[in-house]
Amino acid sequence: MSDPRPIGVFDSGIGGLTVVKALRDLLPGEKIFYLGDTARVPYGGKSASTVERYSLEIAEMLMEENAKTVVVACNTASSVALAKLEKHLPVPVIGVIRPGARAALATTRNGHVGVIGTRATIKSGAYERELRALNPQVRVSVCASPLLVPLIEEGWLDDELTDRVIARYLGPLVHQGIDTLVLGCTHYPLLVHAISRALPKTVSLVDSARNCAMAVKKLLVQSHLSAPAGNSAGLDIALTDAPDIFLSVARRALRLEIGNVQLREVLHSAPIAAR
Ligand code: DGL
Repeated sequence: MSDPRPIGVFDSGIGGLTVVKALRDLLPGEKIFYLGDTARVPYGGKSASTVERYSLEIAEMLMEENAKTVVVACNTASSVALAKLEKHLPVPVIGVIRPGARAALATTRNGHVGVIGTRATIKSGAYERELRALNPQVRVSVCASPLLVPLIEEGWLDDELTDRVIARYLGPLVHQGIDTLVLGCTHYPLLVHAISRALPKTVSLVDSARNCAMAVKKLLVQSHLSAPAGNSAGLDIALTDAPDIFLSVARRALRLEIGNVQLREVLHSAPIAAR
């Protein structure tokens, strides 16, 4: 059995394109519909209830696009809205937290994992919960890193100032003895070189975007939702506000083929959001 419908992917903005890039590499035969809520980005500094409401509204728009599954390509939305999305959507939902946590546990040798993310992601405790549910013995050190998203969106991916900010955030985690660091924000893979430079060789990086893509592949196979051979694969991108400079930053850094970007208005009266 197979399913030609698109994989629906959403993020607060354009950071989730790191997940799309990983999905395109891993599942070249699939059609992807990406929706970035650029009218309301960033989600990272907003309350859990607001992020939950936004996520339900955006997911409802993906349902209108006939998505066969919804990929929450945003750690902030995955941290606070995944349970609600799973409850209300009629299709399987995959977030980035569980795949990232699993990969971190498979990577760590000393059982001490670090996590960086937005304030909302770190405040939610979602990574600690997931990591401890999988391995109660794991030690977890976390750090909210709210300055990284604006630096990435500005395109300062290899910049002395960005290096200093990274060093300031990561220094204490390294000092505490982590040997694995989860990039708990879908923007952060764009900083992978700068972050690697700031870490001792003994610390391994876990990219939640790549691990999420691998979990999507597994889900499609297990649920018989993979695209049929000869499917018209491709990427459609829609945003809730006009694209800004960050779209060209992402396009360049990810080497992603991005055609015309569509504009969509948020459906505020989304029925599932009201439930
Ligand atoms: N890409 C979002 C995440 O993974 C962060 C951007 C935002 O704050 O909206 O958490």
